[in-house]
Amino acid sequence: MNILGEKVRIRDRIPGDSLQEIIWEMDAEIRHADPPAGKLLNSQRFSIETLEGEHIGSCSLYNWTDTDIQFGIRIGNKHYWNKGYGTDATNALVNYCFVTSGIERIWLKVLPWNTRAIKCYEKCGFTRAGWLALDGYDFALMEIRKPEIGYSGE
Ligand SMILES: CC(C)(COP(=O)(O)OP(=O)(O)OC[C@H]1O[C@@H](n2cnc3c(N)ncnc32)[C@H](O)[C@@H]1OP(=O)(O)O)[C@@H](O)C(=O)NCCC(=O)NCCS
Repeated sequence: MNILGEKVRIRDRIPGDSLQEIIWEMDAEIRHADPPAGKLLNSQRFSIETLEGEHIGSCSLYNWTDTDIQFGIRIGNKHYWNKGYGTDATNALVNYCFVTSGIERIWLKVLPWNTRAIKCYEKCGFTRAGWLALDGYDFALMEIRKPEIGYSGE
């Protein structure tokens, strides 16, 4: 896997990535925005790096069915927040899924106070799709559907 965005590259994980991810996961601000998930079903996790090769976060696809897939993202290096890296990575992976698979709907859950993430997802075309009570939190659900035209990968 090697997906190129305008600011990031999404690539397969390499051994050194795990330790960095654990360090990010222990950060209180990150845990407040994005609490550690329980066991993920059918999960595939990737690393996000800058075009210069700096590892700055991760993204995941999981819970996939024939038509739907769940998306998750974490820019763990906080120096890269609010600079468009999350939006670029989200756009790149969403586009990749729609072009290369039969996936028709990508969805995610986000805590309602995570306004940075919600803004990022809205910029990528995600819209509100209800609520999900899980692990003691009330998550907002967001989704994006494959446009009927404009994708030639089928
Ligand atoms: C959420 C996350 C992926 C977004 O990536 P990012 O690179 O920081 O976001 P972007 O710069 O692409 O977009 C964020 C937008 O939110 C805006 N924003 C930031 N803080 C905000 C706030 N408190 N309220 C409203 N908008 C806010 C930014 O200005 C930006 O919009 P703009 O481009 O119109 O100026 C990243 O911050 C992250 O991983 N955070 C920690 C973990 C997390 O929250 N993961 C998501 C779990 S659902």
